[in-house]
Amino acid sequence: MRLYVNIDHVATVRQARRTDEPDPVRAAVICELAGADGITVHLREDRRHIQDRDVQLLAATIRSVLNLELAASPEVVGIATELAPHQATLVPERREEVTTEGGLDLRRGGDRLRDAIDSLSKAGIRVSLFIDPTPEAVNDARALGVPAVELHTGRYANHWRDAEPFSELAEAAAQAKALGLAVHAGHGLTYENVVPVAAIPEVEELNIGHSIVSRSVFTGLGAAVRDMRALVAEGRARLR
Ligand code: PXP
Repeated sequence: MRLYVNIDHVATVRQARRTDEPDPVRAAVICELAGADGITVHLREDRRHIQDRDVQLLAATIRSVLNLELAASPEVVGIATELAPHQATLVPERREEVTTEGGLDLRRGGDRLRDAIDSLSKAGIRVSLFIDPTPEAVNDARALGVPAVELHTGRYANHWRDAEPFSELAEAAAQAKALGLAVHAGHGLTYENVVPVAAIPEVEELNIGHSIVSRSVFTGLGAAVRDMRALVAEGRARLR
């Protein structure tokens, strides 16, 4: 199972002062040395955390892979096609939201979404769609012809001790895999709730940010990544 570390909130701290530290490019190096399989950043249209300079430098310097999260907006899609990261994860974006609050609305996404998928795919970028873990969303993603989906784990994360949100996630993962989609998962995953998700056999990639960056304030970033890696491995070991 791949662990991609989302370093947006390293940039959030920097942007709080509009200065040059902490630098997400340096953070990426530490994450990689601590065992991250990839680095994820979200270049938001409002540039509230990650800046164009960050994505350019990350694309040029990281040794693992870059997963660029972006909205289906022509401006950001243009940047992505030029930088050609390994993977682009299309996400919905609303300016007033604190974080990405739900999966993509694939039915209302229309031409904008199709154009984004088309441009990114033509640039040789692996496209993943961030969707809610519902049968409809999985079917709609399949119909759009992408190779991968990232299942939104937000509802699970908010109610992770309840059986229902977990079953919803596990069922969506099984359905997506059966339809030939690669299955990723993320949003709101923490040191407390990650193990059951890591134990869902169809899930091959996790994207985790806020919890790792939060812990890094106390433990350092390398230790925070290693601790998360160990929990992901613990979840995976349950499959044996
Ligand atoms: N996956 C996607 C598509 C996201 O938009 C985010 C948040 O940027 C994450 C994963 C990571 O969420 P968190 O920061 O809560 O771990």
